[in-house]
Amino acid sequence: MPDIAFINGRFIPWEEATVSIDDRGFQFGDAVYEVIRTYRGIPFQLGAHLARLERSAKELFIPPPYSKTQWMQWVQQGLSLAGYQEAKVYIQITRGVAPREHSFPSETCPTVVMTIRALQGLPAEMRQTGVTACTWEDLRWGRCDIKSVNLLANVLAREEAKKARVFETILIRDGLVMEGALSNVMAVQGGVVMTAPEGPRILSGVTRTVVLDLAKKEEIPIEERFISLESLYSANEVFLTGTTLEVLGVVRIDGKTIGSGQPGPITKALAARWALLTG
Ligand SMILES: Cc1ncc(COP(=O)(O)O)c(C=O)c1O
Repeated sequence: MPDIAFINGRFIPWEEATVSIDDRGFQFGDAVYEVIRTYRGIPFQLGAHLARLERSAKELFIPPPYSKTQWMQWVQQGLSLAGYQEAKVYIQITRGVAPREHSFPSETCPTVVMTIRALQGLPAEMRQTGVTACTWEDLRWGRCDIKSVNLLANVLAREEAKKARVFETILIRDGLVMEGALSNVMAVQGGVVMTAPEGPRILSGVTRTVVLDLAKKEEIPIEERFISLESLYSANEVFLTGTTLEVLGVVRIDGKTIGSGQPGPITKALAARWALLTG
């Protein structure tokens, strides 16, 4: 089964999938993106991902190239061509091709790229044992709510995780926990699930929203508020959420053991509810 590439309304062989060196996505990171996964061939939360894509583009004044309905058709067509049961759909919309000049060109047509690849899930063992994390200063700009391809600070943060031989880097701004380099972070204290509120400081994860809804259904109290790094270290449980991570327990941060050193009961309950929802 092939990996699939799509550029500006055409499915094309991977080797032929190229964009111009004058593309503003390449020159300035002037672009937005989404990552969607499938479960048994069906894209999960596609509507929510497309809504966030549209919002991100709107916030950057990039005209939406396709309607939501048209997008749904492209994604379905791509998934049928690829034939993967577990797939990762990547969509990117750039402001288009124009001579390199910072301000917006007067006329451009957005460049639209989509790729569909097989998704390698995380090892089951990792979900049982939990993962480790380090913390690092949040160097990102003031509009983290826009899912833009300008990911340099995230790239540097991920490199810190690699150097520290941990799974994820948790970003700290003014002593407060924002989110992971590619995940949202939730901490449990006294039975309450706490996570940073939506706003310009975090990307509002699609998984975050679904997990908070699951918690509400389970009558687990939630508080959307910033917590300090000290509170993170002393939390009973910490877990990450994200499209490919799902609900993933964190058992050590900066070398400090979190709770019992194993994914805690609320993390496990939410992971189990997630598995029911998607299984
Ligand atoms: C910075 C950041 N926060 C949170 C998330 C989780 O978002 P989602 O649950 O929509 O995958 C991501 C995912 O890529 C991310 O990059």
